[in-house]
Amino acid sequence: MSAALDVRDLRKQFVIGRPAVDGVSFHVPAGEIVVLLGPSGCGKTTTLRCVAGLEHPTDGEISIGGTAVSAPARGLLVPPRHRNIGMVFQSYAVWPHMTVKQNVAFPLKHRDVSGAETERRIAGALELVGLTEYASRPVTALSGGQMQRVALARSLVYQPQLLLLDEPLSNLDAKLRLRLRDDLRRIIKQTGVTALYVTHDQSEAVALGDRIGVMREGKLLQLAPAADLYNRPADLFVANFTGASNLLHGQVLERQGEFATLAMQGGGRFRAWAPPAIAVGERVQVAVRPENIQLGVNGSEHSYDARVVAQRYHGTQTTYELELFGERIEVVELGTAARHGVGSPVKLTLPPNLCWAYAASETAGQE
Ligand SMILES: Nc1ncnc2c1ncn2[C@@H]1O[C@H](COP(=O)(O)OP(=O)(O)OP(=O)(O)O)[C@@H](O)[C@H]1O
Ligand SMILES: [Mg+2]
Repeated sequence: MSAALDVRDLRKQFVIGRPAVDGVSFHVPAGEIVVLLGPSGCGKTTTLRCVAGLEHPTDGEISIGGTAVSAPARGLLVPPRHRNIGMVFQSYAVWPHMTVKQNVAFPLKHRDVSGAETERRIAGALELVGLTEYASRPVTALSGGQMQRVALARSLVYQPQLLLLDEPLSNLDAKLRLRLRDDLRRIIKQTGVTALYVTHDQSEAVALGDRIGVMREGKLLQLAPAADLYNRPADLFVANFTGASNLLHGQVLERQGEFATLAMQGGGRFRAWAPPAIAVGERVQVAVRPENIQLGVNGSEHSYDARVVAQRYHGTQTTYELELFGERIEVVELGTAARHGVGSPVKLTLPPNLCWAYAASETAGQE
């Protein structure tokens, strides 16, 4: 049934340009959903297509269920149809001249499945995606969301050991996307199939993935459960990409275990979490999420003096621009009352656990 996926040192170099995939390694245990997330052009689709066998990798090894399906160094390349993979793409890719049922039945035609078993599987797949009542409808008489469900049912009907999905929700309107992404996770989990899911939408990645892999320029930077990604980003790019948009600058005065005391560029001392590689004396930039900064003193020793420079009222929340250590940061405060006026001093609380110091040489690389 469902199989583990193993990708080792995968590289794909097209004829032109830098490598689209540049040494990517990861393991997906059977039954897990891993989401590849990253900006446009970072190599998500190429990675997925290499796993599917639609793209010929330049180097590295891919195994499905413990069996190598691609190993260019050994001249091994198993064609897509022999990989027992289900695929769902951005475009619905359903056959317009067929009914829902005929679409779902199609993959079973060339497989050795009996008539009764075919009927049973089609019924099961249609029920799974909630389209039982639509079986005899032409697919052209369906909504986008329903067509995507047909595509999903069609990719699951032959019980693949691995399901690959490339931005399957991006052609749908926002409301439908929200609904279908929760359904998708439920459906995938119900079948127990291992899944590799590609998106550039963070909320989709968080809602769907057991783990999320962040990619940039052909490299996999971090693969972790969502909460780890948001609370311990491996580098400045991951921090920035997941929304830690504030940057403060300083130098490491001393380290205490996982944490460091910093002398800030504009004066003042500050405590932050720092990866082990960050040494005393090193210049660092500290990433902080606007939502993690609390205005006011919180009974915590980690409070600092700041000043309100600007304020934007949004009704249910207020965004403040503050001056802290001579630098500008943004803070979001929930609630309908904007409590602090422009020019007023304000205390803020910044737990070291939620401030991450990275080497000053790292780039956030907003694209
Ligand atoms: N057939 C090709 N020939 C040459 N370069 C390619 C080809 N396909 C993709 N690339 C390049 O490889 C890189 C990775 O592309 P890929 O489609 O994997 O990105 P992606 O992360 O899926 O982006 P998006 O979010 O826009 O879909 C890009 O720089 C792209 O231009
Ligand atoms: Mg893509």
